[in-house]
Amino acid sequence: MSPTQSQIVISTPAVLDQAGERLRAGRLVAFATETVYGLGANALDPAAVAAVFELKGRPLYDPLIVHVASLALARSLTTDWSELAEKLARRFWPGPLTLVLPRHADVPDLVTAGLPNVALRWPAHPVAQALIQAANRPIAAPSANRFASISPTSAADVAAELSDPELWILDGGRCTHGLESTVVSLVGPHPVVLRLGSLAVEELEQELGPLTVATRSVRASDLQQGLASPGNLSRHYAPRTPLTCLTLQELEHLSEDTTQHSGLLCFAAQVPPAQAARFAQVENLSPDGDLRQAAARVYAALRELDRVGLQRLVALRLPDVGLGRAINDRLQRASTP
Ligand code: TXA
Ligand code: MG
Repeated sequence: MSPTQSQIVISTPAVLDQAGERLRAGRLVAFATETVYGLGANALDPAAVAAVFELKGRPLYDPLIVHVASLALARSLTTDWSELAEKLARRFWPGPLTLVLPRHADVPDLVTAGLPNVALRWPAHPVAQALIQAANRPIAAPSANRFASISPTSAADVAAELSDPELWILDGGRCTHGLESTVVSLVGPHPVVLRLGSLAVEELEQELGPLTVATRSVRASDLQQGLASPGNLSRHYAPRTPLTCLTLQELEHLSEDTTQHSGLLCFAAQVPPAQAARFAQVENLSPDGDLRQAAARVYAALRELDRVGLQRLVALRLPDVGLGRAINDRLQRASTP
C-alpha cells in the first residue's frame, strides 16, 4: 500500500469503536452499505460535512443523505414524521430506501444544500449500522466516489476513488445490491420518486399505489418543494471511456473497426454470440437474465471495462421493468452526450 492511499480496515468491534470516535471528532470514515459504499461524517458537524464535499469534489448544491440506525433518530431529524413515513420505514427499513422529509433545524444547511428538506435512510448492512451506533450520531454520507464518477461497490473501489492516508475504509465485502437507494419525497401532497434505485418502484407501488417518477425534473422551484433531486441535474456515474447506449440493431451496424476497439455491456441473451465476439471485451451483467444480479454487477462491470483502456464502450438497455429501470437510468446518465 502506498503512503498516499486510504486505509482499508477490517470492521472488528474495536475498529468500529475507534471509527465512531473518529466521526465524533469531526473526521471522515468510509463504510460499506448494502447499496454502495458511503463517505461518512457526523451529520450535525458542518465542518466535517464540508470535508466530505471537499474530498469528493462535490458541488455544494447537491445535498447528502443522513443515515440513521433507529426510528427514534430518524424522527428527531424531521419536523414532520408523517403516518406515511412511519408506514414506509416499518416496511422497508433497514434497507435501500431514502425518505425526503421536512428537515429539523438541527440539520445543518450544508447537509441539505439549503433545501427545507432532509433525506433519511436506515441502511441494512451490519457494518453501517454498527458504525452509526458506535458514533452515536446521524451520519451524512454520499457514495464514496469522486463527484460524477462510478459509485464504489467494494472497499478496493473506494481506495481507487479517494486517496487520503487519513481515511479509513470499513470493509464490508462486496455490496449485495450494488445500486444506490431509491429516493422518495414525502413532502408534497403525494409521494414522488426522485431517484430510481435498489428498491424497485413496483415494490413501493404495492404499498402506495401508482407513483410519480420525477427523476428528470430540474426546475429550481421543484427542488424547494421536494419534487426534484439536485443529484439529477448532472451527468453521473460515468466511466472515463466514452459510453454509448445502443439498440441491438444499431450495434449490428457498427463496423469491425469500431467493435474491435470497444467494450460491450449487455444482459442475458440480448446479443447473439457472433455479434458479441466482434468486441474486444464483453461484460454480461447476468447471463441468466437476473436483474438483481445485474444491478449488483453493473458498476463493477463499468469499472472493469474502463480499466482496459478501450476507445469506447457500448451498452444495451435492459428490460425497462423492476431494477432494469434503475440500471437503464444509470447507463443513460453515464453515457456521453
Ligand atoms: O444508497 C445510497 O443512497 C448511498 C449510500 C451511501 O447510502 N448514498 C448515495 O448518496 O447514493 P449520494 O449523495 O450519492 O446521492 C444522494 C441523492 C442525490 O441524488 C441527492 O440529490 C439526493 O439524494 N438528495 C439528498 N438530499 C436530498 C434532499 N434534501 N432533497 C432531495 N434530494 C436529496
Ligand atoms: Mg453518488
